[in-house]
Amino acid sequence: MIKSVLITGANAGLGKEAAKQLAAKPDIEKIYLGCRNKEKAKAAQTELAASTGRNIFEILLIDVSDLNSVRQAVKRLPESIDALVMNAGGTGGRQYDQLTSDGVTNIFAVNLLGHALLTEQLIEAGKLKYAALYAGSEAARGVEEMGMKRPNLTTSSVDEFAAIANGSLFEGSQFKGNKDATDHYGSIKYMAAMWMSAMARQHPNLRFITMSPGATVGTDGFNTLPLVKQLVMKTMMRFMLLLGKVHGIETGAKRYVDGLFNSEFRSGGFYASLRGLTGVIGEQGRLFSDIDNRDFKDNAYQAVQQLISSPNLTLPSK
Ligand SMILES: NC(=O)c1ccc[n+]([C@@H]2O[C@H](COP(=O)([O-])OP(=O)(O)OC[C@H]3O[C@@H](n4cnc5c(N)ncnc54)[C@H](OP(=O)(O)O)[C@@H]3O)[C@@H](O)[C@H]2O)c1
Repeated sequence: MIKSVLITGANAGLGKEAAKQLAAKPDIEKIYLGCRNKEKAKAAQTELAASTGRNIFEILLIDVSDLNSVRQAVKRLPESIDALVMNAGGTGGRQYDQLTSDGVTNIFAVNLLGHALLTEQLIEAGKLKYAALYAGSEAARGVEEMGMKRPNLTTSSVDEFAAIANGSLFEGSQFKGNKDATDHYGSIKYMAAMWMSAMARQHPNLRFITMSPGATVGTDGFNTLPLVKQLVMKTMMRFMLLLGKVHGIETGAKRYVDGLFNSEFRSGGFYASLRGLTGVIGEQGRLFSDIDNRDFKDNAYQAVQQLISSPNLTLPSK
């Protein structure tokens, strides 16, 4: 039974909406809002308490792109949680491809490295009891409708996954001079889904679900893209909403809640829209054989483990 949940990136967008939907479940007794900004966290806490009529929201300050902040947050978490929702993420800000002090790109740090350490540390501390859900994306298998290509991996080796982490994979001419965060984004979400699946095998006593919220309007997700790209994406999203090809924030966040509570979702599975960016969801490993490849999953896991245990020493130089 899930009674307590920690959601990263809970002050806005899908994270905040998921907190609201979870609070509507009477069994939920505590929701930790994992946020990097205290003022924004407090504003979300107040808003959520008012809109749900429940005083079950606690703030846990955490910047998932900073490994020290992640370690401190796990120490400060006063009790174990039943479920973790790894929601913080997106296109990584304007400096998405700059390296952090841990030797990975900002976009990798916020979408994968911090969450991987968070999960490992929670497990190690005995503070994660039942389920971990990762915010995946259809970008992990390409999104024709949005002009996003499939991640362009050739070997899916440990080194190739490491090259996603430090951004060196995206320096080739096919990536137009490494100018676009969306190239990194899809590959990182792919690697995360593979890592999650390997984690499910490593920890059979816990559930690991990768769930894409699907293309969701009404979040701040595109706000850190360059202005022109932002305008293009937002206009396209509004147009697609009219055509029923994307959905609202309630539908996106409900996918997280379903992923946590519906046991039909298999631990280790990567779930996203079966077609396009909205509608019926299904296991992506059944559609794309590489997503179901056990060796590739183990390689992604190994690359992540190397980074967690020895960041910036184990990566090919950028
Ligand atoms: N929206 C979509 O269409 C869509 C589709 C597929 C997947 N997703 C995934 O869904 C997740 C949520 O997306 P969204 O659209 O709801 O994004 P959003 O509206 O931009 O919200 C992102 C949240 O993450 C927080 N965050 C960002 N960097 C952080 C960090 N380093 N540490 C802690 N929190 C951080 C933000 O906090 P601040 O306010 O402090 O910046 C904000 O609360 C992301 O992982 C995204 O990749 C979204």
